[in-house]
Amino acid sequence: MASISSSSAACYLLILFMCSSTARTQLSSSFYSSSCPELEGIVLNAMQKEVKKDHRLPASILRLFFHDCFVNGCDASVLLADNATFKGEQNALPNRNSIRRLDFIETIKSAVEASCKNTVSCADILAIAARDAVVLSGGPSWTVPLGRGDARTASQAAANSNIPPPSSTLSALITSFSKQGLDEQDLVALSGAHTIGFAHCTTFRSRLYNDSNINAAFAALKKRTCPRSGGDRNLAALEEHTPRGFDNSYYVNLLSRRGLLHSDQEFFNNGSADVVVRRYAKDLNAFYKDFAAAMVKMGNIRPLSGSNGEIRRVCSRAN
Ligand code: HEM
Ligand SMILES: *[C@@H]1O[C@H](CO)[C@@H](O)[C@H](O)[C@H]1NC(C)=O
Ligand SMILES: *[C@@H]1O[C@H](CO)[C@@H](O)[C@H](O)[C@H]1NC(C)=O
Ligand SMILES: *[C@@H]1O[C@H](CO)[C@@H](O)[C@H](O)[C@H]1NC(C)=O
Repeated sequence: MASISSSSAACYLLILFMCSSTARTQLSSSFYSSSCPELEGIVLNAMQKEVKKDHRLPASILRLFFHDCFVNGCDASVLLADNATFKGEQNALPNRNSIRRLDFIETIKSAVEASCKNTVSCADILAIAARDAVVLSGGPSWTVPLGRGDARTASQAAANSNIPPPSSTLSALITSFSKQGLDEQDLVALSGAHTIGFAHCTTFRSRLYNDSNINAAFAALKKRTCPRSGGDRNLAALEEHTPRGFDNSYYVNLLSRRGLLHSDQEFFNNGSADVVVRRYAKDLNAFYKDFAAAMVKMGNIRPLSGSNGEIRRVCSRAN
């Protein structure tokens, strides 16, 4: 009797284990170590060459990874192009006329295919390229867990609802990130990505003209290239002192109310995130450590396993 019940308990545990391991893919940094050992070298080499021609490349690639992961997981869904019968994420509000350099992920994919045919997913290429984007900007490095599958579809509606707008309050941002399994520290650390890259006037106009928690000299300066009307497509650096350097000046700016986006300044507006901003502004290594950890966490959002995903032949179209 005792032996029957203990063996059925073991069996029950085994079933539980099998269920959870098929439902959730376990990513691994050695996933391609025998099938494509040259993978990370190919991606880094391509990124290194292209950044010389396009200084904004790292920022644009890093943002693409965020916009991929927040919409049904890191599954390269954002890379699927619209066609006559398919409307994906690229024309969702946060993406339209805004995300860029998807073409370069396609270029890296071709280079990877030339060495390792039908082996490496576009989702994994984007995850590696996002890490390299940070490293090439002078930021921290980390080991990228791999083994994601590519989605066969994408959701414009999910992109519209899951990617928070720059008008968001702190509490809306906390809610949005917590739905993805990311906590308030992850939110503030990941937003430090805004230490590189650019934003269009349309995304910060109301901050310049309507927000009170903004440095007056900073607002006056930004208004020169972002008037009340017109100049919608004009760009401003998200962090103007070192727009290409991955440092902690984003947080230093917040301390003097020089955040460009309304959502940025929400992290230093007499709320619960103030303490985190002060810490990162003072301690570059604390920011680097938390940013790297949060990128791995974001990269773990709902990866597709084996039969649930595919290895796309080209990143812009499902097989
Ligand atoms: C917390 C919520 C966030 C909001 C509301 C937000 C919003 C925005 C907006 C409005 C822009 C400018 C887009 C344009 O004008 O075309 C932008 C740019 C950017 N975002 Fe975010 N973002 C957030 C979080 C993140 C995260 C988590 C990352 C990456 C880890 C990220 C990386 C970037 C980068 C690098 C750029 C510059 C892109 C370029 O120059 O091409 N953002 N973001
Ligand atoms: C500022 O707020 C007012 C009142 O809510 C609104 O009518 C106006 O369009 C806003 N201005 C900008 C530039 O967003
Ligand atoms: C934050 O609190 C300080 C001190 O009470 C106050 O002077 C400041 O105006 C507040 N800032 C905001 C944005 O509410
Ligand atoms: C349209 O795009 C979807 C998603 O990539 C793809 O499955 C489908 O085959 C495409 N259709 C055409 C005609 O290219």
